[in-house]
Amino acid sequence: MRNLSKLDQLLANLNQKLPAESSHKEREVDAQEYDSGALMRVNHSGEIAAQALYHGQAVFARNPEVKAHLKQAAAEEHAHLQWCEQRTSELGTHVSRLGPFWYWGSYSIGLVAGMAGDHWSLGFIKETEDQVVEHLQSHLEKLPAEDERSREIVNNMIKDEARHAADAEVAGAKELPALVKEAMRLSAKVMTSLSYKY
Ligand SMILES: [Fe+2]
Ligand SMILES: [Fe+2]
Repeated sequence: MRNLSKLDQLLANLNQKLPAESSHKEREVDAQEYDSGALMRVNHSGEIAAQALYHGQAVFARNPEVKAHLKQAAAEEHAHLQWCEQRTSELGTHVSRLGPFWYWGSYSIGLVAGMAGDHWSLGFIKETEDQVVEHLQSHLEKLPAEDERSREIVNNMIKDEARHAADAEVAGAKELPALVKEAMRLSAKVMTSLSYKY
């Protein structure tokens, strides 16, 4: 676990410079402090990563039903990606310049999850989607109340991601070890912190 402490420290330093990702414990959140465009850029990056994870996992899926399920979910992540891309543009800003890195990094992680076998791969989906729902719910707190369009997109994504998690559970997801869950949280934090800015 403490192998992760250096990364923890690095992220703590990074977060000091990025108000959007600061801990809720440290301060009261004022929605006005957050930039809608940057939040939607973060969500766009998340959807690139989600789609790439599913693509990677589908490569080694054994069961044809699991494979079909992964491809269907990837198509839904692609739709989310388009919603976020359009909204980011409407808000007058760019999508993350690190997009290819998010795609290929996540695709590689997806390959590894897929190689571990269908039940672990489904467990990985369940945990990913649970973490994504948590993340998106935090964005509902950060997005300005008047930004109804972004809030609607985030709400619609939450519904789909919760369904992805539930489907993976029904299909036989295994619970991942705590260390893996923690590593997933940290890598998501790297992506969200960097995408907010870049
Ligand atoms: Fe999604
Ligand atoms: Fe999803």
